[in-house]
Amino acid sequence: MDLEGRTVVLTGATGGIGAAMVAALVARGAHVLAVARHPERLNALARRHPAGAVTPFAADLTDAIDRAALFTHARRLLPAPSVLVLAHARPAFGLFAAQGDDEFDALVRTNLTAPMQLIRCLLPVLQTHTQAAVVAIGSTFGSLAFPGFSAYSASKFGLRGLIEGLGREHADGPVRFQYLAPRATKTPFNAPAVDALNQALGTHVDAPEPVAETLVRAIERGTRRRQLGWPEALFARLNGLLPALIDRSLARQLPLIRLHAGGATAATTPSQEHRHDPLPL
Ligand SMILES: NC(=O)c1ccc[n+]([C@@H]2O[C@H](COP(=O)([O-])OP(=O)(O)OC[C@H]3O[C@@H](n4cnc5c(N)ncnc54)[C@H](OP(=O)(O)O)[C@@H]3O)[C@@H](O)[C@H]2O)c1
Repeated sequence: MDLEGRTVVLTGATGGIGAAMVAALVARGAHVLAVARHPERLNALARRHPAGAVTPFAADLTDAIDRAALFTHARRLLPAPSVLVLAHARPAFGLFAAQGDDEFDALVRTNLTAPMQLIRCLLPVLQTHTQAAVVAIGSTFGSLAFPGFSAYSASKFGLRGLIEGLGREHADGPVRFQYLAPRATKTPFNAPAVDALNQALGTHVDAPEPVAETLVRAIERGTRRRQLGWPEALFARLNGLLPALIDRSLARQLPLIRLHAGGATAATTPSQEHRHDPLPL
């Protein structure tokens, strides 16, 4: 897909990965309708790009009125949007038992229900083009559920299922459905406790710019599914084929994960050998 001259609706545009994707898209001559909740961050983002390249649009995607306003605005753009990138999400790190119903509700509404609603609204617009794409930014945890991220993993597994189902439902149409999953990336998405866990596990953490560049190249190539990073791509596949192997490896990491997720007791404090048992995700 040649992105030059296309209108791209991109959610999570002020985020670490989203803002880097905006830059990569603008560099290719696309016009970006940049969506996030905070207008001041959106305006600052637009000011970093040539006039007219980025249109800020403030919307809480869990709010029906905001989504309707976004849809009305997007529908009037010329050229009409032909790419929808879903790069917003809500994080949730912690032990499941310590998380509450409100958090689960906000997590699922942000990471799963809002993508469903946005895709359904924008699909008729995308279908007016001979070539169009819906691109969901997933996660390694959308293929390999991780302790301390159970609810978040569930939301990303759901997102992957949504995109896979839609890709099959629209296999004979002009809209391509892509699920592209970064591994850990250095952005404000990760709370200090997540950064500390990544460091303790020896997890590789990418910079957002190369991640965004890889994601935008995958949009150009029309890659349907992509897990970024090695060995994350191997572990994600292995989890599908031989989940018991991953179960065993993660069981060895559990004391360390519990410690960082806030549920550790002195009895479960990790010993030194746990620190170097590599399952870097
Ligand atoms: N960072 C990582 O380690 C990592 C790894 C794998 C996958 N991912 C995925 O990559 C994507 C981007 O992550 P990131 O690291 O760039 O996150 P980030 O820096 O925290 O940015 C999140 C973005 O989403 C927006 N947002 C959040 N809730 C929203 C809502 N209800 N309505 C509208 N906008 C909302 C935020 O802006 P406002 O706060 O202004 O709304 C912000 O622009 C996400 O799907 C994430 O799951 C991230």
